[in-house]
Amino acid sequence: MEIDPATLEQKERYKLLIGLVVPRPIAFVSTLSLDGRTNLAPYSFFNGLSSEPLCVLFCPANKPDGTEKDTLQNCKPKSEGGLGEFVINASVADYAREVALASEPLPFGESEFELTGLAVAPSTRIRTPRVARAPWSLECETLQVVRLAPGAPAGGNVVIGRVLHVHVDDGLIDAKLRVDYAKLGAIGRLGGISYCTTTERFDLPPGLAKARAQ
Ligand SMILES: Cc1cc2nc3c(=O)[nH]c(=O)nc-3n(C[C@H](O)[C@H](O)[C@H](O)COP(=O)(O)O)c2cc1C
Repeated sequence: MEIDPATLEQKERYKLLIGLVVPRPIAFVSTLSLDGRTNLAPYSFFNGLSSEPLCVLFCPANKPDGTEKDTLQNCKPKSEGGLGEFVINASVADYAREVALASEPLPFGESEFELTGLAVAPSTRIRTPRVARAPWSLECETLQVVRLAPGAPAGGNVVIGRVLHVHVDDGLIDAKLRVDYAKLGAIGRLGGISYCTTTERFDLPPGLAKARAQ
C-alpha cells in the first residue's frame, strides 16, 4: 500500500504514526504549576536527544481545542509563562496501570498523583517532584519548546530539556553503568491501547569490523 499522508484525516495520520513507529519508550512526566500543584502524564513521543549536553525530548500535542496540555503549560520556559522544568520518570511494568490511568485528562490543577495513588519524592536540583516508585528519574530544565502548529487542534510541540540530575535505584546499574534490564522492567507503547515489555532481548555487534571479529 502507498499512502499520501495529505489524503488522510489528522486522526488517521495519528493512528498510522503510532501504529508504525513502535515500540516507543514512555516518558512519565511530572510537572508543577506556577502555584505549586503537581501533574503527571505519560508521553510516548519521547526519546533521548543528545549526550553533549545530556538532553531529552518529548512531544505534548495541543488539546482538541488547540490549547496546551497541562504538562506543556507547566514545563514551558519561564519566559513563556511556565516553571521551566520537568521530571521524566521511568515507565515500568510494576506500575503500568498507573501509567495508563494518568493519561486521564483531568482539569488543570487536579493531580494525577492523587488519581493514581502514586507517591511523590522530592527532586534534588529542581522544585518539581518525581515519582517515588520510579527506578530512574531525570530532573530536567526546559531549554526550548518548538511549536509546529500553534493553536491548532492536535498541533505538535517538541519540548527539549537538559538533564540536571539523574536518580537511579541502587542495584539497577553496575559500576560500569550497565543497566539490568530484567530488574528495570521497562514498558513501551505500540498502537492503540497496546504495550510491550523487554523480556525477549538479543545482542548484535554494530557495523562491519565488530561483526567480522565475532
Ligand atoms: C502510554 C501513553 C502515551 C501517550 N503519549 C502521548 C504523547 O506522546 N503526546 C501527547 O500529546 N499525548 C500522549 N498521550 C496522551 C496524554 O497522556 C493525555 O493527553 C494526558 O491527558 C495529558 O495530560 P496533561 O494535560 O496533564 O499533560 C499518551 C497517553 C498514553 C496512555
